[in-house]
Parts: sequence; structure tokens; C-alpha cells
Amino acid sequence: MSSAIDRFDERVRRRFSRHGKTVVHRGELLRHPVYTRVLHWTVAIFFILALLSGFAIYSPWLFHWLTPLFGGGPMTRSLHPWFALVFSIAFVFQFLNWLRPMRWTSGDSKWLRRVKEYALNKDTLEPPYTGFFNAGEKLYFWTIVVSVILFLITGILMWFDHIVSRWIVVTSYVIHDIAALVMLGGFIIHVYQSTTSQPGTFRSMTDGTVTDAWAWTHHPAWYAEVTGRDPVEAYEQARARLAEQHRAIEAREHEQEPRIAK
Ligand code: HEM
Repeated sequence: MSSAIDRFDERVRRRFSRHGKTVVHRGELLRHPVYTRVLHWTVAIFFILALLSGFAIYSPWLFHWLTPLFGGGPMTRSLHPWFALVFSIAFVFQFLNWLRPMRWTSGDSKWLRRVKEYALNKDTLEPPYTGFFNAGEKLYFWTIVVSVILFLITGILMWFDHIVSRWIVVTSYVIHDIAALVMLGGFIIHVYQSTTSQPGTFRSMTDGTVTDAWAWTHHPAWYAEVTGRDPVEAYEQARARLAEQHRAIEAREHEQEPRIAK
């Protein structure tokens, strides 16, 4: 089963890379190929459209200013399930694409036990068992999987409310809204983590690449796997090089001082 999925992913990845290129310079690593990036931004755009139109339907009193974006109230109501459907279909492809790196490992359980240190940015390097995705990213992914299933089931029941019994429709509303709130919370944390909290992460979803330093800092096991190098050693060498550069600059400045004074 998983090898059929891998073969499918490999085929579409190759097809997409014929149309869009990822340029990897020296000192960089390929993080997300074109196929992954197209899926990610399709998921993101349609999630945001579904979220905004959903807000307008959920509370017209608070969010009536959003409805003109979608062509008025009735149009917002008609478009919302279609935005959600495109979001869900794109996410199904992303699910297949990321199924393998998102598998839970014993390292992930260890990572979760030190989530407080992670949130407080206490360590310079992530623990050596942190692979392509860390446990926090995997939890976000699996939360979306569960939410998409709940959205689809409850959304379809609400869509066909004229043939579904009343209590099922009302329960669906509650589950649908709880799933949306959980997704909103996850989305806010996700955007913060992928942009300001971890500089150098955002470009992985635009250019498709990250620097070596980003990789050995945030995902050392993945860095070791793709480069065959020890992440701690690479970090120590980079530090030594930087210290050497600083010493050379200071020495040059020192040399020039008396000449300037003359
Ligand atoms: C619109 C703002 C968004 C930004 C700036 C953003 C940015 C990113 C970046 C840079 C990554 C790669 C992280 C890495 O390689 O380690 C990523 C991964 C991911 N994105 Fe987004 N994203 C956004 C919206 C979304 C939305 C709306 C969803 C789904 C509802 C989503 C789902 C994911 C998932 C599941 C991953 C992989 C796990 C993770 O890195 O957390 N993203 N995103």
C-alpha cells in the first residue's frame, strides 16, 4: 500500500519538477520540491478562503464586513462548501505526499517531553533524533487530518440539512465549529513558527531550499541523513570558522588604527 503511494508521489514529483525548478546553491539543501509547495499553497489559500467565508456565515453580526469579499451573504454561503472541498482534496494529496515523514517515532515521544525547552528556545541545536519534521509539526499535521475528516462528515450533513434529521444537523454544527477553532489555533501557531519564530523556515515553502545551518540546527537527524555529516561537528566547525573571521577582522582593524591616528 505505502509503496504504491510512494510510486505515485514519485511520479507526480517528477512531473511537477519538469515545469517548475528548485535551484539549490552551495551551502543549501532541497527541503520541499515544487509538488509539495504547490500543494501546500493550494491547501493554505483554500483553507483561508473557507475560514473567512465560514466566519461570515457563523457570525454575520460580527463578520458582515467579510461578505462583500465573496459577493454578498447568499454567495458566501454557496461558496463556503466549495472552498472547503478544494482545501480537503488538496490536503488528501498532501496527506499521501507526507505520510512517510509524518510517521510517529520513539524520538518524537522524547521530543514532546522537552516541548517547554523548545518553546522557550533554550537549546541552540534541536536534539539529535529530530528528523525531517519534529513532533510538534507532526501533531499539527495529524490534527489537520482528524479535522478534515470531521469537517467533511459534518459539512456534508449540514449541506444536505433538508434530508438529515434535525439533531444530527445541530450536533454537526457544534463539531464543525470546534474543529474550525482547533484549526484556527493551530494555524496561528504554525504561521508564527514558520516565519518570525524560526528565521530561514519560510523560504523552504517559496524557494524550496534551506541553508545547511538551518538544517543542522532544527532537523539534525535529517541533516545527517541527506549529507552524511555529523550535525554537531558541522555546527562546531561553522562556529570555529566564524570566530576565525572575527579574529581576522579585529586584527585588521587593530593594524589600521595607528595609521588612521597618524
Ligand atoms: C498562510 C500562511 C502559512 C505559512 C506562512 C506557512 C508556512 C509553512 C512553511 C514555511 C512550512 C515548511 C516548514 C518546514 O519545512 O519545516 C510549512 C509546512 C506545513 N504547513 Fe504551512 N504555512 C501556512 C499555511 C498553512 C495552512 C493554512 C495549512 C493547513 C491548514 C498548513 C499546513 C502545513 C503543514 C501540515 C506543514 C508541515 C508541518 C509543519 O511544518 O508544521 N500551512 N508551512
